[in-house]
Amino acid sequence: MRFQDKVVIVTGAARGLGLGMCERFAAEGASLLMTDVLEEVHASAGRLAEASRGRIVSRVSDASDEAAVLQLMAYARDTFGKVHVLVNNAGISPKNNGRKYLLEETGFDQWQQVLAVNLNGPFLMCKGVLPLMRAAGGGRIVNIVSQASRGRAEFTSAHYVASKSGLVGLTRVLASELGPENITVNAVAPGFMRSALTDMLSDEVRGRMVERIPLKRMGDAVQVASAVAYLASAEAEYVNGTVLDVNGGTIMR
Ligand SMILES: NC(=O)c1ccc[n+]([C@@H]2O[C@H](COP(=O)([O-])OP(=O)(O)OC[C@H]3O[C@@H](n4cnc5c(N)ncnc54)[C@H](O)[C@@H]3O)[C@@H](O)[C@H]2O)c1
Repeated sequence: MRFQDKVVIVTGAARGLGLGMCERFAAEGASLLMTDVLEEVHASAGRLAEASRGRIVSRVSDASDEAAVLQLMAYARDTFGKVHVLVNNAGISPKNNGRKYLLEETGFDQWQQVLAVNLNGPFLMCKGVLPLMRAAGGGRIVNIVSQASRGRAEFTSAHYVASKSGLVGLTRVLASELGPENITVNAVAPGFMRSALTDMLSDEVRGRMVERIPLKRMGDAVQVASAVAYLASAEAEYVNGTVLDVNGGTIMR
């Protein structure tokens, strides 16, 4: 019960890796604010609330929209008064018939949309949550990046890799800037995990990706949730500014 009496916000919480994180936090006693652009987030939160000791609430909200983020934080303040953990998990990775978009195929609108969700979103959320973490006397921010921002990225589009690489940079800067306030900022870099995002890949791309993983299998939401929970917990109190790879050994540093 590492998160008893802790308040946790997870973006992109309706399904996939984000929902897996919420399941872990709830199982360990957290109160949760689950947010997503999908209405489905309410049903996901409802299912979790039935079996949880903490308070579980949900909001439909776009993490890349400044006004919406401010409203979300006002709701968090009115509901909980403070926030201990923020997980910036919401992300998109558009695919072109099961494979990446090449540079020449990428419209500027799509480029901006990916940067907006994957990079502007975490910036807005980190900025917005600050007063609520100060109210808690400190906090933990965990940004979900990707193995695509950690090495050669042959299967992933330029906008996605640029956005996640930017988020690694944001993680480092904020770790320095917010450390003196007892707020740690770290990232988790998942490899090739089962979710709606990777369901979009063609069988051919999927096969080639699995072949490159030393463990020879895809990962899942539970493995990512374990890494996120560690970084968000008291056990990681002296871990700050790091990127934790969860990829079966595909990228080694
Ligand atoms: N699945 C993988 O293999 C993998 C690998 C590396 C990184 N990631 C990252 O993990 C995170 C979760 O991905 P997933 O695999 O669970 O995908 P997913 O598509 O199942 O879940 C992403 C969630 O984010 C939500 N979302 C999208 N735009 C949003 C916005 N503007 N505001 C709020 N919510 C929004 C979606 O509605 C969805 O519920 C993403 O940041 C993704 O880039 C996933």
